[in-house]
Amino acid sequence: MTTDEEELEMPTALITGITGQDGSYLAESLLDKGYDVIGMVRRSSTVNYERIAHIQGAIQFVNGDLLDQMSLIDAVKQHSPDEVYNLAAQSFVQTSFGQPVLTGETTALSVTRILDAIRNVDPSTRFYQASSSEMFGKVAEVPQNENTPFYPRSPYGVAKVYGHWITVNYRESYNLHASSGILFNHESPRRGLEFVTRKISYGAASIKLGLEDKLALGNLDAKRDWGFAGDYVEAMWMMLQEDSPDDYVICTGMTHSVREFCDVAFGHLGLSYEEHVVVDEKFFRPAEVDLLVGDYSKAAKKLQWKPRTTFEELVTMMVDADMALLDGRLKGLA
Ligand code: NAP
Ligand code: GDD
Repeated sequence: MTTDEEELEMPTALITGITGQDGSYLAESLLDKGYDVIGMVRRSSTVNYERIAHIQGAIQFVNGDLLDQMSLIDAVKQHSPDEVYNLAAQSFVQTSFGQPVLTGETTALSVTRILDAIRNVDPSTRFYQASSSEMFGKVAEVPQNENTPFYPRSPYGVAKVYGHWITVNYRESYNLHASSGILFNHESPRRGLEFVTRKISYGAASIKLGLEDKLALGNLDAKRDWGFAGDYVEAMWMMLQEDSPDDYVICTGMTHSVREFCDVAFGHLGLSYEEHVVVDEKFFRPAEVDLLVGDYSKAAKKLQWKPRTTFEELVTMMVDADMALLDGRLKGLA
């Protein structure tokens, strides 16, 4: 086979949300697998490629916005992807209470915009929707699996329920290969600073280095099933390699409180979280999801997927990365 023929056979993946946490890990993974990776980016006044700076040269970028139907159609037309991963969203639950309509437009209706683009341009394109454990909200059972009823507790959760069901609906109505990954919280050193895990790892590192003394948090008793984003993007890809599309819960099966996260993070640096963490009402939510813990047995059986990173490994990885980041900045200033 000649080099030209080999190149022709490389699959192409279009990723929305490539500048986000998951987009960066998925792009890395697909490039390693030999994919041509197309990253959809929206216009901004400054470049925000921080998370993908190390692989930027290997990615082709296409301009597009979830709120703009034509740009989605053009992106699909222009690049004829074999697979589309819809990771873009307004993804911060707290913001969804303040901006519920924008969250609905972006996180809910845009899923239909992308599905319609695929349906009209090339219905053989495989599609992944980033669904969320936030859809389980006020949980109907413990642990949560693919059959657990949804009871969302935030405008974000409500929007994700719409995105989930429209994916199922287009699969059933138009025979699209459209799968939905119901992913529980997954974190990494690339997590946005406003999410609680990164806020804690960054806060603990700042305190250790003498840059801060206190860290203000909200509900310390909330419990989440936290995994590592690098493990979870593999499951997204596995779903699209299956002959038939389906829905899968992706999680670790273990749950920990925000308080426990603080304990491990501060403890890793020889600090006591009780001396530094203060509770501030402004970080409480109008409605809370108290407990999430998933059951990934379907993904284990059908996809042979399982999480590889433990809670302690995840927390210490994030704290070490923030120590290195802040230490590097301090040295740069010296
Ligand atoms: P993230 O870091 O917040 O990234 C969100 C991405 O969406 C960014 O690239 C952002 O672009 C893009 N985006 C936002 N609005 C857009 C618009 N109007 N047009 C085009 N792009 C837009 O989120 P993440 O943690 O990687 O999560 C990826 C997906 O999984 C999201 O759909 C999230 O809701 C879902 N999810 C996440 C988790 C989790 O624990 N991380 C769990 C379940 C489901 P900019 O960089 O330009 O802002
Ligand atoms: N962000 C934040 N900041 N959360 C806090 C704080 C704080 O200071 N203090 C306590 N928490 C609690 C929140 O009340 C919530 O119960 C929990 O920590 C986790 O909050 P986040 O890290 O903001 O994540 P999330 O669970 O609301 O949402 C994330 O996971 C979803 C999957 O279940 C996001 O990544 C969503 O996009 C994702 O779908």
